[in-house]
Amino acid sequence: MSVQIETTVRRATPADAAAVARIYNEGIEDRIATFETRLRTPQEMEERIAGGEPMLVAERGGAVVGFASWVPYSDREVYAGVGNYTVYVARGARGSGVGSALMRRLIAEAEAAGLWKLLSLILTTNEASLALARRHGFREVGVHRRHARLDGEWRDAVLVERSIGEADLPG
Ligand SMILES: CC(C)(COP(=O)(O)OP(=O)(O)OC[C@H]1O[C@@H](n2cnc3c(N)ncnc32)[C@H](O)[C@@H]1OP(=O)(O)O)[C@@H](O)C(=O)NCCC(=O)NCCS
Repeated sequence: MSVQIETTVRRATPADAAAVARIYNEGIEDRIATFETRLRTPQEMEERIAGGEPMLVAERGGAVVGFASWVPYSDREVYAGVGNYTVYVARGARGSGVGSALMRRLIAEAEAAGLWKLLSLILTTNEASLALARRHGFREVGVHRRHARLDGEWRDAVLVERSIGEADLPG
């Protein structure tokens, strides 16, 4: 019998900064999620949340187990409706639906905020992140070859995108 664990998703507050930093740093340490290698402090994450970055957190049993956010894709006004998303789930909670719960709400919030597209860059080896993106209707635009170095090694990254809101029409 499978056990369903309830996940709630809500907007992040500065009080979530320590949990968000811990979860982000797990992703950095695992070397699967990002080109970043510098661990972040709770204060840095607090500044991002307090500074207005649209961020959601997922909770299970009162503990924060994941977060998702987007930042502007570009500072050019013509691209104001394009957001670059990120989703991180705590190691112990991965593969049990938290990422999908965050992604569903992220898409809804982005649409409500007037965005017309979400995109992200995913390392070609990050199967879980590629699966999550596919599951939520993102298409793979293409592969940036040797996009940046991770620990000194060139790595490829997949650009994924999904139209939302009024742009999400057939054709
Ligand atoms: C990528 C990540 C956010 C996905 O969240 P998650 O909670 O593990 O994913 P879910 O359990 O909600 O699964 C979402 C989908 O991906 C699939 N999936 C999850 N983990 C997978 C894996 N390791 N390999 C293949 N598919 C996987 C699931 O089967 C599900 O698809 P389905 O609904 O069609 O069955 C999470 O694994 C994570 O935090 N990884 C480390 C940080 C990271 O890589 N972030 C992304 C940076 S671009």
